[in-house]
Amino acid sequence: MNFSTVNKKNVRGIPLPVIAFIILLFVQCTPKHQVASSSQTGTIAGHPDKGLKDYYKNYFPIGVAVSMASLHGPDSALIIKEFNSITPENDMKMGLIHPSESIYHWANADKIVDFAASHHIKIRGHNLCWHNQEAAWMFKGPNGEPVTKELLLKRLKDHIFAVAGRYKGKIYAWDVVNEAVDDSNDTTQVYRKSNWYNICNGPDFIAAAFRYAHEADPQAKLYYNDYNSEHPVKREKIYKLLKKLIEDRVPIDGVGMQAHWKLNDPSPDELRKALDEVTSLGLKVQFTELDITVRLPQSTPSPGTTPQGAGQGYTPELEARQIAQYKMVFDIFRQYKKFITNVTFWNVSDRYSWLDGRGGGLMGGAAAGSNTSRQIIKAYPLLFDENRQRKNAYWSVVNF
Ligand code: G3I
Repeated sequence: MNFSTVNKKNVRGIPLPVIAFIILLFVQCTPKHQVASSSQTGTIAGHPDKGLKDYYKNYFPIGVAVSMASLHGPDSALIIKEFNSITPENDMKMGLIHPSESIYHWANADKIVDFAASHHIKIRGHNLCWHNQEAAWMFKGPNGEPVTKELLLKRLKDHIFAVAGRYKGKIYAWDVVNEAVDDSNDTTQVYRKSNWYNICNGPDFIAAAFRYAHEADPQAKLYYNDYNSEHPVKREKIYKLLKKLIEDRVPIDGVGMQAHWKLNDPSPDELRKALDEVTSLGLKVQFTELDITVRLPQSTPSPGTTPQGAGQGYTPELEARQIAQYKMVFDIFRQYKKFITNVTFWNVSDRYSWLDGRGGGLMGGAAAGSNTSRQIIKAYPLLFDENRQRKNAYWSVVNF
């Protein structure tokens, strides 16, 4: 750096206090034993024997969402080294695995289960009932008319018996119902007005799905899974749903907090409140889809336009903020270890994240299926970089 060009207050527009903070974090987060950069060695840098799962062996399993593509080639070595739980990202969803009444596509799901079993990796099942990636045929009667509630629940039961039954004893926890709570600020509207809700004329399908899942595999742990579960309004709605399920003696073990987070979201207080509230009901918690996008909140762009400020990449300032957020949330996870039974990342490395393909990724953790542009703007949300090497954020969660 040419010090003659350094302005007293900032360097290239970055204020000096921010630079000092970044340097401090890098010094704290870089492991003492990391002697060569990972790109120099071509291997995963750091302790030769330890992965995330080993650093957290006294806390909770550390998982990752996988596709068929990630089971082959370089991702698979990283998965085996770092993780001891996997979740199929898409391959067990109703629309994919059960696209018509008499057809089940087992091949991908079976391969993922076999991969996990052969490497002693636990499997979370995702998911048994959702309003997205649904099986359209389920909602039509025999003659194309809207299906009745009775027939829909029978089909749901058959589906759950087939899928949870096939993997009985292999899948240790299921996201039974996904995202059934309404997103609006209207506190009186607890449930999402999905096809499931509308056809059942209420939330009965939720309790039914849990009962069917428990019948199909009594040993599996059963979770309700949702996003933005730390935001106060949604948190209260999820709490109401869970309380009702417990009052009705529905077999539920815990809550999946998806954890599609941002640099400033959740705050430590919000995260603690969400944990305190659901654990007060006697439920366990799994962080099921963790990622922390570096995209800054901004208004949704008009279709086909480049959003203002988009594409600035993974700047040192954004990296420092991501490191701080990852450190904060894992500090809290460890404090709540007796309630937390899994922490799973949604995708393997920054080479590919579901957020990259969505304009909605700009907002961080936008709801799946929301109407967003398809422009690729990277979110850099994970602990491994585009070359599958450990990021400084990685060291902020394992150096404790
Ligand atoms: O399989 C088709 C392929 O045949 C086609 O050529 C291609 C063209 O776009 O699309 C492929 O399907 C895509 C599918 O992922 C598999 O890659 C869909 O378009 C795409 O919409 C779908 O996105 C998935 C999304 O759920 C659907 O809502 C993401 O991969 C997956 O990460 C995401 O996961 C959800 C969780 O299940 C629930 N919580 C939110 C989370 C993020 O949205």
